[in-house]
Order: sequence, then C-alpha cells, then structure tokens
Amino acid sequence: MTHRAPGRTDRHYLMCEPVHYTVSYEINPWMDKTRYTDADLAVRQWRTLRDTYLDLGHRVETIDPIDGLPDMVYAANGATVVDGVVYSAKFRYPERQPEGPAYQKWFADRGYVTHTAAQTNEGEGDILVVGDLILAGTGFRTERSAHAEAQELFGRPVISLELVDPHYYHLDTALAVVSSDPSDPQVAYYPPAFSAGSRSVLEQLFPDAIQATERDAVALGLNAVSDGEHVIVAPGAVDLADALRDRGYTPIPVDTSELLKGGGGAKCCTLEIRA
Ligand code: ARG
Repeated sequence: MTHRAPGRTDRHYLMCEPVHYTVSYEINPWMDKTRYTDADLAVRQWRTLRDTYLDLGHRVETIDPIDGLPDMVYAANGATVVDGVVYSAKFRYPERQPEGPAYQKWFADRGYVTHTAAQTNEGEGDILVVGDLILAGTGFRTERSAHAEAQELFGRPVISLELVDPHYYHLDTALAVVSSDPSDPQVAYYPPAFSAGSRSVLEQLFPDAIQATERDAVALGLNAVSDGEHVIVAPGAVDLADALRDRGYTPIPVDTSELLKGGGGAKCCTLEIRA
C-alpha cells in the first residue's frame, strides 16, 4: 500500500539565531569565503522559519549565538536527542569544535542527561530518527564508530549509510525523514548521494520512498523538516513538493537561500528535541 502522511504531531525544536552569520572558512563545497554574505538577511530568513514552526503550533527554544562560531546557526549539528537522552556532537573540523560543548551545556543546564561523545559525529546532520530506527551517515563527517556509540547509547538499531558526493556531506542534505511514525516510517532521498550498497539498503527499508530529483537535491530540498503533515522545504525543490503532495503531505516552501551559502537549509537550522 502506498504511504500516506500520518498527520501532524507536536514537535520541540532548538534553534540558534544567525546574528554572527558569515562564511569565513570553507569546509564543504557550498562555502565560498570570497562571496558576500548578509547576516541581516540570514536573520530575516531564519525568523521566518522559526515563525513558521510557531504558527504550526510547535515549540521552539533558542540557544545564544556565540561570536566567532558562524556555523552555530546549523543547530541540527549540535547534538542528537532521543528519548530525552542527549548525545553530544564532536565536530570533525576545528572551526566548529567549540559548538559541541556549547550545545551540550545548553542541555545540561536544563537538566537533560547528556553523554559526551567519544567518537566524531555531527549530531542530527548525520543521525536521523525514522520510526524505531536510526539512520546514520558517514563518509565526510561522522565516523562509523559513532554509529555504534549512538546505538549503544539509545538502544535503537542504527543503520549506517555511506555518502559519496561531497555536496551532500551530511545525511540530512541527502535524505529527509517525512514520517517518523513507527507504524509507517518514510523518507525521501537523492539516490546518487549514496554508495551502491547504501542505496540497496534504503530500497529494502523504504521500498515506497520518494526519490528526489537532481533539481530537488541542488536546491538542498532534502534538507526538509516534517511534522508528519507539513513539510518545510526549499522553494526550488518543486519535484519533491509534488511528490509530497501526492502522498497527502502539505509542503510549505521557506526560503533559506542566504543560509545555503554556508551549505545548509531548514533542517540544518533545526535540532529536534525528542522527549
Ligand atoms: N557550514 C556548515 C558545515 O559545513 C553547514 C552545516 C549544515 N548542517 C547540516 N545539518 N547539514 O558544517
């Protein structure tokens, strides 16, 4: 039977306003430090994204941005939170390493149980919860050893997926969780971003998945956020929006073009806190 949108459930998100936004180093192919960036525009786009979540009835908390950490806006990388347990991020590149402890402190200060990562991992950038499973990317940032660490910590099966295209360096740039409903989990993904073996695994796990087009992928359309009904998606991802509509979802285009200069979109700016 074809997958249908399960319906909206309440979400709790953590975000970081991009007041210090700039591209001052290059750690992915989207970043070009010679290109002009506009922090005011980034803030306006970010506020529209935040307000969209609030209008949908979701809860949004924020972490204070730190001067000198321009990528802190990509909150998804800050940690992974499952069943109220926080697995801290341990960033690959030195430019982002202070973000891990900053996010971990935010959670610890609010009474969450936090686990300091031993292995390199970039939070929900590479670790995505889909129903009862966790999908975990590797190849560019997160180490495979972190997948094992996450499985041990969360006690959920972790499926390792190999990313092969540097433009899609985090799993959340190549794959979107559209339904996290354990009875009918569903994803959308861009097949060329994955190794042949990982594509076979995705086909077995999600035979009815949405296969995104190149047009969707280059707009970073897979960097989408779903509440089970509404899907926040880059305006350029028109094929993905059509495919979502066909399955009963409501795509909501939100322009995050300024944040794309750092290599991120809506999902990158959004860390889901799962109680
Ligand atoms: N400039 C950031 C980096 O390369 C972008 C991170 C995007 N975040 C994400 N969840 N994909 O690390």
